[in-house]
Amino acid sequence: MKDLKHLLDINYPIVQAPMLGVSTPAMVAAVADSGGLGALPLGGLSPEKTLALIRETKAKADKPFSVNLFAHSLEVELIEAHIAKMETFMEILHKKYNLPFKSQSISGCRFYNHLDQIDILLDEQVPIVSFTFGLPEAGVIEKFIQRGVKLIGTATSVEEAVLLENAGMDAIVAQGIEAGGHRGSFIVGEELPQTGLMALIPQVVDKVSIPIIAAGGIFDHRTIKAAFALGAVGVQLGSYFLAADESAAGEVYKEQALAATDTSTELTQAFTGKWARGIRNSFMQDIKNADLNIPHYPYQNSLTTALRDFGKLNGIADIISLWAGQSVSKSKRGSTENLFKELIKQMQVNPNPVF
Ligand SMILES: Cc1cc2nc3c(=O)[nH]c(=O)nc-3n(C[C@H](O)[C@H](O)[C@H](O)COP(=O)(O)O)c2cc1C
Repeated sequence: MKDLKHLLDINYPIVQAPMLGVSTPAMVAAVADSGGLGALPLGGLSPEKTLALIRETKAKADKPFSVNLFAHSLEVELIEAHIAKMETFMEILHKKYNLPFKSQSISGCRFYNHLDQIDILLDEQVPIVSFTFGLPEAGVIEKFIQRGVKLIGTATSVEEAVLLENAGMDAIVAQGIEAGGHRGSFIVGEELPQTGLMALIPQVVDKVSIPIIAAGGIFDHRTIKAAFALGAVGVQLGSYFLAADESAAGEVYKEQALAATDTSTELTQAFTGKWARGIRNSFMQDIKNADLNIPHYPYQNSLTTALRDFGKLNGIADIISLWAGQSVSKSKRGSTENLFKELIKQMQVNPNPVF
């Protein structure tokens, strides 16, 4: 069964990407109520925030929406010496902005993952759950399947896609290297998977039988049709919605997105310890120049949070994580509803049999 619209109960096979820090309940509701799949990003959030955001989205949306979680383990290897050097580096940077720096004890940090959130999703009867950063545990998948919840995994390679299908996912987001934000990769080994979407879709489609949703660099009817021509039956757009009215990206972030070119982004571990694509800025360059060992996610993420928050508050693009994909120059201002409807209009003028 390859029909995504029937599987997810939507009118159009377009997913608004879950973008932590950018996709708001208002954005999710606008897409859901326009007939697409709105996706609420809740990865790594506390149970309290998880519940509050689901309830807020429910209050705004007439139609159902999906929720996105981080399916990684929080048991990562942390090397004290690497953390100490990174803290020294961050302290110097904080001083530059007259910002106090607080050293954190590793054991004192409280991090969350999907295991802290699934019972809330079940209680709230969320109908569709998507995952990135991993393969959820068999027991977690079983719980959702028993309640009829549809499950979507994220793959950046054929191997990951096959694992997700075998584990019981209903659909897979195939994320190309063009994509903005974190790589969803969970089989990394020596090398991070860096396959482009054009190469990834047909190779995944040839190996799995569940529906494939293409993500990375999609922003109009040409890119949607290309993804469909390669075998995808749905598309997931993130950067396209970055500068939307309902986006939580600050004004300086939106300006950087709108001023970007095809070569403005690169992959970095600098902000969070996980590979992610964002618009190049001096923080990324400074970390590169310092040639430090970057502590794993989520530790590096919490080490840089205060500086990034300060950057957001004061509109300093140099120290904000400006997550964006290779086609971010095609993002536009306007309401999410109008941006979504623009895609539908383009697809109606340039029809495609799968759409
Ligand atoms: C700002 C930003 C935040 C993101 N956060 C998440 C997230 O929380 N969960 C997730 O599964 N994907 C996340 N992504 C990746 C998107 O789901 C999607 O793969 C990507 O946006 C597609 O590429 P595009 O940006 O070129 O459209 C994020 C992407 C961006 C740009």
